[in-house]
Amino acid sequence: MRTVAFTDGRAVPVLGQGTWHMGETRGARRVEADALRLGLDLGMTLIDTAEMYGDGGAEEVVAEALAGRRDAAFVVSKVLPHNAGRRALRTALARSLRRLRIDWIDLYLLHWRGSVPLAETVAALEAEREAGHIRAWGVSNLDTEDMTELAALPAGAHCATDQVLYNPQARGIEFDLLPWCAARAMPVMAYSPVGQAGRLLRAPALLEVARRHQATPAQVALAWAIRHPHVIAIPKAADPAHVRANAAAAALALTAEDCAAIDRAFPPPAGKVRLAML
Ligand SMILES: NC(=O)c1ccc[n+]([C@@H]2O[C@H](COP(=O)([O-])OP(=O)(O)OC[C@H]3O[C@@H](n4cnc5c(N)ncnc54)[C@H](OP(=O)(O)O)[C@@H]3O)[C@@H](O)[C@H]2O)c1
Repeated sequence: MRTVAFTDGRAVPVLGQGTWHMGETRGARRVEADALRLGLDLGMTLIDTAEMYGDGGAEEVVAEALAGRRDAAFVVSKVLPHNAGRRALRTALARSLRRLRIDWIDLYLLHWRGSVPLAETVAALEAEREAGHIRAWGVSNLDTEDMTELAALPAGAHCATDQVLYNPQARGIEFDLLPWCAARAMPVMAYSPVGQAGRLLRAPALLEVARRHQATPAQVALAWAIRHPHVIAIPKAADPAHVRANAAAAALALTAEDCAAIDRAFPPPAGKVRLAML
């Protein structure tokens, strides 16, 4: 699978795996961990989770999936904004590491911006990086203005990524945020890349492109997101058929005609669009 490199040189597959809504019910955990393991086998070795998901339950599912193969995975987790102060972040990170049953997190993100000053969060993240509890840090749901403010802070340039909503229905980042990140060789992580399997997957344009490639609309949405060299997509799938389809989407190359059909149905932004978030 094609890889995308962070500015520290570490490379990850262009398709990873999301975990939102995993770990919410005990009965589903085995199926969810199996799905993640299948994804790892198929090369989707980046796993994205958060302390918020399933109230810690998703991190426990990730731990189950990683048992005996931690080194094969790149683990991303997130701290809630109200835990993003110097002391609270240390405690939240320790809880995440315990639930994940690992010694370090590869990439730790501020889930969204809250009331804690960015400078304090960055200082806390840097301290954890220096202590070896995380290998890198980044942010999520920050728009261009916030990213500019972040970049100007001491060590702000160490930010590895911005994880944001990105799919054909939500492509406002193409106007300014994506070019801003690309200019700094900073990968963007696209969340909800298949539109949470809602209306997007029934859109005639995606159905038409899918038919041309004997693919599915979800695969087209994924291939569309990762057509940009700095975008990593993190679909969540608990169904093994979805996991297989998603991994295979890495090999689907859209043509100019395909992209034009998607542009007609979902026009690219003509000006600044405020960052959408879920
Ligand atoms: N930073 C943030 O604020 C933020 C916000 C939202 C999401 N995220 C991250 O991004 C990940 C992905 O986003 P998401 O979970 O919101 O939405 P998503 O990945 O766009 O959609 C997940 C839904 O799509 C279904 N699906 C997956 N692959 C499919 C396929 N090939 N064909 C048909 N249906 C398919 C899944 O079903 P099954 O599970 O039944 O397979 C699930 O219902 C999250 O899990 C989370 O890790 C981050």
